[in-house]
Amino acid sequence: MKKKDKYNIAIVGATGAVGQEMVKILEERKFPVAELKAFASARSKGKKVSFRGKDVPITELSFEESAFQGIDIVLSSAGGSISKQFAPHAVKAGAVVVDNTSAFRMDANVPLVIPEINGEDIQKHNGIIANPNCSAIIMLMAIAPLHRKNRIKRVICATYQSASGAGAKAMQELEQQTRDVLEGKPVQKKVFPHQIAFNLFSHNSAVTDNGYNEEEVKMIQESHKILHDNSIRMVASCVRVPVFRAHSEAIVLEFERKMTPEEAREILAKAPGIEVVDDRERNYFPMPLEASGKDKVLVGRIRRDLSSDNGLALFVAGDQLRKGAALNAIQIAEALIQ
Ligand SMILES: NC(=O)c1ccc[n+]([C@@H]2O[C@H](COP(=O)([O-])OP(=O)(O)OC[C@H]3O[C@@H](n4cnc5c(N)ncnc54)[C@H](OP(=O)(O)O)[C@@H]3O)[C@@H](O)[C@H]2O)c1
Repeated sequence: MKKKDKYNIAIVGATGAVGQEMVKILEERKFPVAELKAFASARSKGKKVSFRGKDVPITELSFEESAFQGIDIVLSSAGGSISKQFAPHAVKAGAVVVDNTSAFRMDANVPLVIPEINGEDIQKHNGIIANPNCSAIIMLMAIAPLHRKNRIKRVICATYQSASGAGAKAMQELEQQTRDVLEGKPVQKKVFPHQIAFNLFSHNSAVTDNGYNEEEVKMIQESHKILHDNSIRMVASCVRVPVFRAHSEAIVLEFERKMTPEEAREILAKAPGIEVVDDRERNYFPMPLEASGKDKVLVGRIRRDLSSDNGLALFVAGDQLRKGAALNAIQIAEALIQ
């Protein structure tokens, strides 16, 4: 990307859970923004987002090249079908699209990037760079540093995914249902297929022919692409839990050679974007409440897998709206302009 002092940035989906976080993080990290354009649907006409003390009006997204004239970088999070429609026009207009949806992630011409892990792939872009699935990012932040030292042969992962992973309305649904249950009122389901308050259920994405839901398939396929290693065997069980924000994951790893918990702790303590929270004495380990609003992914419960000679078990919690989405996308944008 041509070096400039400041860049024109567009956020597509600026009113959403991820989009709002993007606005916040651009401001927090002092991204050199010349002008910010905020796109959403016709439903948001008249709304505004606040950026650096000023109101930025929401513009209805149009699927035309002219909408993106003069934009350097588009940060996109309005859903896969929207990205598929507008991204080619934005690229034609000369912008680079950093896309948070699943629209292009497995496209061979589109790099899928976690800057701490495969940042070098950013330069291979042809106008679109994909931001990985949030559960994949949170898992890989914890396991990629270990994999680099001692190849991981097998991963078993169970997720505990927050309501906000399904967007702003899903968060409101958890809040409303919780109130209704406590007040003895009937619960209404609009976003999730099942009651989320005081409950948990298998991830709400579609279940494919082999019994895995789409979230589980994404975690496996995207991990292979990011690590450039299709031979790692993986199984995931993705579950939605009544937590507002931050995903947690119980991960079991099998390495090529033995790795002690002490070695793993030492590697993770030095890994970028990771905070080790592993206090056995106090029974104090990663929690979504403490991961919420944080940039770092919390990793703990690092212990031997007693059922396997070369195995380790860990527990992670990471804010999927930040590192799992908006922060990762802005880190990609920062790398683009460097
Ligand atoms: N939530 C997460 O933790 C997370 C993590 C990683 C990736 N993602 C991905 O990021 C995307 C957005 O997720 P979210 O959680 O932020 O969802 P959300 O809270 O439901 O927000 C969706 C955003 O897209 C906009 N939008 C919807 N239809 C549109 C249209 N036809 N034209 C223009 N804008 C439109 C919405 O605008 P209105 O307000 O006007 O409807 C809103 O700004 C999804 O693809 C999701 O898979 C989400």
